Amino acid sequence: MTEADLYTLYKGVYVPTAVHTPESLKYYEEFTFRPDDVVIVTYPKSGTTWMQEILPLIVSGGDPASVETLPNWDRVPWLEETRASILKLEERPSPRLFTTHFHYSMMPPSFFQVKPKVVYVMRNPKDVFTSAFHYYNSASFLVKPGPQSEFLQKFLTGKVIFGSWFDHVKGWLNAKEKLQIMYISYEEMMKDLNDAVSRIAQFLGKPLELDVLEKIADKCLFKNMKNNPMSNYSVVPQEFMDQTKSQFLRKGVAGDWRNLLTPDEAQHFDNVFKEKMKDVNYEFNWD
Ligand code: A3P
Repeated sequence: MTEADLYTLYKGVYVPTAVHTPESLKYYEEFTFRPDDVVIVTYPKSGTTWMQEILPLIVSGGDPASVETLPNWDRVPWLEETRASILKLEERPSPRLFTTHFHYSMMPPSFFQVKPKVVYVMRNPKDVFTSAFHYYNSASFLVKPGPQSEFLQKFLTGKVIFGSWFDHVKGWLNAKEKLQIMYISYEEMMKDLNDAVSRIAQFLGKPLELDVLEKIADKCLFKNMKNNPMSNYSVVPQEFMDQTKSQFLRKGVAGDWRNLLTPDEAQHFDNVFKEKMKDVNYEFNWD
């Protein structure tokens, strides 16, 4: 099946039609934020699920039930997906936690008026590509990646779900003057998860005792999240997501692109990165 069969073009980017109906997109456009909401923003495959584990644990002061009762998509729901409209989000107590994969330019009016906190997670785009290459193969609501060189071309030109990685990151980095945004990278979280959790907790105004912080970081280790049925997507039916092809929590490492990209592909990727990001004044720290 092709893009025309599986995707909807929304504000210039593809979204998977199966989980983004016209009603859900309307719900999103009309959504009313609260000042103490916290929104995880990511380009897909950058560490969304990881942050959906970290935030509830911080906000609950380390209560394991915060990540063991509801699946991640109900616990920290995507505002643009169909589930959001049936979850009665307006009845949830503060601080509410949400997720979005949308670009800055696609945020709804209330977002710009209310200015909730944003945690923006970035990851080395070569690893985002690698993770996506495997994931697109396992999800029946996504167009199969096809040959690697073709998928690379699609990824670099933004003809994949949620559009261009470069535009996504640029748009959100440029928003820093206007909003309360914490930028954090997947690689920083890999390097020192305790420190990452501590900084996120500070940003959320919820400083933690050392023992609680360590407990949270431990719970959010890849091997532990892999065993959490509320976070490893094992409750999703196989016809929707076939994890025998590739597990959702697949490898959980930095630098796996080295096992996929040829030297020429990696060079081409770097050239495109340099060109597209040349006017971005930000110290990316994944190398
Ligand atoms: P890989 O496919 O490289 O393993 P998202 O949640 O944004 O879709 O991102 C999924 C990626 O984040 C997958 O990458 C997944 O394994 C990784 N991930 C999820 N939880 C993680 C954790 N606790 N530690 C390290 N990586 C994690």
